[in-house]
Amino acid sequence: MAETIDLAPEQLSVLHHRHLLGLATYSAEEIHLILRTAREFREVLERPIKRVPTLRGITVVNLFFEASTRTRISFELAEKRLSADTINFSASGSSVSKGETLKDTAQNIEAMKVDMAVIRHQSPGAPHFLTRCVEAVIINAGDGAHEHPTQALLDLMTMAEHFSTFEGLNVSILGDITHSRVARSNIFGLTALGANVTLCGPKTLIPVGVEHLGVRVTHRLDEALEGCDVAMALRIQLERQGASLFPSLREYHEHFGITLAHLARHPDLLIMHPGPVNRGVELASEVVDHERAIILDQVTNGVAVRMAVLYLLAGLPRPNTEPQ
Ligand code: CP
Repeated sequence: MAETIDLAPEQLSVLHHRHLLGLATYSAEEIHLILRTAREFREVLERPIKRVPTLRGITVVNLFFEASTRTRISFELAEKRLSADTINFSASGSSVSKGETLKDTAQNIEAMKVDMAVIRHQSPGAPHFLTRCVEAVIINAGDGAHEHPTQALLDLMTMAEHFSTFEGLNVSILGDITHSRVARSNIFGLTALGANVTLCGPKTLIPVGVEHLGVRVTHRLDEALEGCDVAMALRIQLERQGASLFPSLREYHEHFGITLAHLARHPDLLIMHPGPVNRGVELASEVVDHERAIILDQVTNGVAVRMAVLYLLAGLPRPNTEPQ
């Protein structure tokens, strides 16, 4: 088995959190530590033997109460690459269907001696609630429309592969901001690192007063793309919208979808998307497949970022002293 990476204790001391519940409370130093560590693990993933013994003896449960492809597979792969013991739980087919609560489910799983829990849940705050029910380290893999911190970290890592600094980087986040945990986590992460964030979408999909988070808002795509380095298109989350908040998907694409014409007008613009993509809605299908769309690099970096988060949080002493 390939040799692992080791961080000096002074590097680890930068991390003041025991859990990863969101990026709202993570400092620039903490985020940079995770990104630096992820880059080392990215190198491990290029080796012929992509496994290190770093988390041997640690047991991680993946609690998925909501659908996922990328995050779930990526966490599972990250745990396996670190030699952790992994258990997968999905709400469908479990005793949740018999009425068991989140607290009881988590406490019963922890009674089987689990060290870390990754949770995706439809309710905002579910990971925070778990920190009060169990001793395990909790990692938020997406809670309702609240936060998706590992997605934002992998987005940051992907941007960092193209730009030498976040200071002054112009990033536009496009689409359904109101229902997007990815947008919230990216706003926290990007502004902490000094990037300029612009939000763009229909008025009905941008929360009133969001400017207090240090972002600029526009409802015109052309304005959002002017001088923009990275455009991050978000999925229209039809499943989280109570009522139709714009006339039609066709009309949404006309006003806010990125097309080849936009790429031609902005020759240095990079396109990102957290997935899953609604082809022909947020992005024209040809844009998804374009060389300046770095969507699959985001996915690849997701494994390295999740390895870094698991590694760093597994290394911290108990008990919980973090600001939440
Ligand atoms: N980006 C993301 O969270 O994708 P999944 O829902 O497939 O995990």
